Amino acid sequence: MTTILAFAASNSSTSINRQLVTHAAELAAASIDDSTIEYLDLNDFEMPIYSQDRQEADGIPEPAQRFYDAIGSADAVIISFAEHNGSYSVAFKNVYDWASRIDMAVYQSKPVLMLATSPGGRGGQGVLEAAAGAAPFFGANLQGTVSVPTFFANFDADAGELSNPDLAAELATAVAALTTAVSLKA
Ligand SMILES: Cc1cc2nc3c(=O)[nH]c(=O)nc-3n(C[C@H](O)[C@H](O)[C@H](O)COP(=O)(O)O)c2cc1C
Repeated sequence: MTTILAFAASNSSTSINRQLVTHAAELAAASIDDSTIEYLDLNDFEMPIYSQDRQEADGIPEPAQRFYDAIGSADAVIISFAEHNGSYSVAFKNVYDWASRIDMAVYQSKPVLMLATSPGGRGGQGVLEAAAGAAPFFGANLQGTVSVPTFFANFDADAGELSNPDLAAELATAVAALTTAVSLKA
């Protein structure tokens, strides 16, 4: 069984990045035999804000270990990043910082696809560039990045898929790279 781990780097109950990552994960699962998708919700990983003092006093919180282990158990990871003030959402950054104290190679050499979307015209490019640029230092076997600008114009929420054909083709190419990397490792 091939497990695709998918999550939005957002804690919003109406996350557009969750819609995008769900679509991408379904595309990936459709092209891998005997695959399953595991979705994470960052609301299930609430914990105190990272501090060195807290780590020294109390060690690593259970949610951080659970997040790290979920990546470790997966065969591929797809993340769609919400952009908050040009960077990661606090919800993601906190779990990421804690997990990086378990092992800086948070992504544990897994094939990773990174996405981002926003209602605006930049499509979360700032956070996506930051995440992709840092990916090699955090153990990601990065297979591609796709930014979806003006989400509500380019995504059909009822159908759960991209309505813009150019973006759909770009996502399909990136998903194919990910699934190829998974099959090469199998
Ligand atoms: C605190 C905050 C900061 C934001 N900063 C940005 C930003 O820098 N760039 C951007 O494109 N959108 C920004 N937005 C709008 C988000 O792109 C929008 O809320 C989007 O829906 C977030 O993704 P999500 O729905 O997956 O949580 C911001 C939203 C919030 C709440």
